Amino acid sequence: MDLTDQPTALLPGDVRMPLLGFGTWQATGRAGYDAVLAALDTGYRHLDTATVYGNEREVGRAVQESGLRREDVFITTKLPPDRVGRERQTLEASLEALGVDQVDLWLIHWPPSSPGDSIPLWRELLAARDENLTRAVGVSNYSTPEIDELIQSTEENPAVNQIRWSPSLYDRQRHAEHRDRGVVLEGYSPFKTSDLSDPVLTRIAGAHGVSPAQVVLRWHIDHEIVVIPKSVTPERITANFDVFHFSLTAEEMRDIDALGEV
Ligand SMILES: NC(=O)c1ccc[n+]([C@@H]2O[C@H](COP(=O)([O-])OP(=O)(O)OC[C@H]3O[C@@H](n4cnc5c(N)ncnc54)[C@H](OP(=O)(O)O)[C@@H]3O)[C@@H](O)[C@H]2O)c1
Repeated sequence: MDLTDQPTALLPGDVRMPLLGFGTWQATGRAGYDAVLAALDTGYRHLDTATVYGNEREVGRAVQESGLRREDVFITTKLPPDRVGRERQTLEASLEALGVDQVDLWLIHWPPSSPGDSIPLWRELLAARDENLTRAVGVSNYSTPEIDELIQSTEENPAVNQIRWSPSLYDRQRHAEHRDRGVVLEGYSPFKTSDLSDPVLTRIAGAHGVSPAQVVLRWHIDHEIVVIPKSVTPERITANFDVFHFSLTAEEMRDIDALGEV
């Protein structure tokens, strides 16, 4: 399976980002390497890491050992905002650890504590993109006003905002705010923020012969929201990818949306 066989979000520059990715926070050392290799063997073609996860080396080694072509794996990493003034050095360290010449997406991991740092950081990301060190750039944990500030100052919108997201956090307006600005919404912690024994999720899971966790992932994909479940458990790595053989009805989508609208 290559990147084009999976549903993707289109980022500026004709960059295709698979809607289903593999999260790697807290997947470190041998367990992290094994999990990423298992994910790539399963069919995941999108990996989410970060400088602060301390696993870029293991992620990169798994990509190399997988035998996949570099262009068939979408790799995101993230810049800790306290690296202001050392952005390029931090990206170069990520590229070296990952063993690649370029990442696919580089994000500001969270808004800097000093708000005045946000625009200079963003300009550094744009410069790295212009020099082909990353194909796309974006942010994480940004509010809509924080995104607007970047757009107003540079006329460049982040390709992606990676935020906590799940049925219980569903916010129709916030989703629309991203769409209106051409920012792809990427959700993280889909399970940690879900009640997998919720009766709505279990009913819908039963109707499709899948698990509530698979319903949560499919709900993101049917909303065209990127989702990056993490697991170091082989059976879960497989099950979390096995969400392309069913889809949710409009009524089921509405019922799941309502979990976040109470
Ligand atoms: N930008 C940010 O600030 C930020 C913050 C948090 C996360 N993230 C990214 O988003 C990714 C996902 O978020 P997350 O790691 O916080 O949480 P998550 O993916 O919602 O949940 C991971 C937890 O759920 C378990 N799990 C996995 N599959 C399951 C299943 N099918 N059924 C039941 N439990 C399951 C995992 O256990 P096992 O591993 O033991 O199987 C692990 O304990 C991260 O890995 C990271 O890449 C980004």
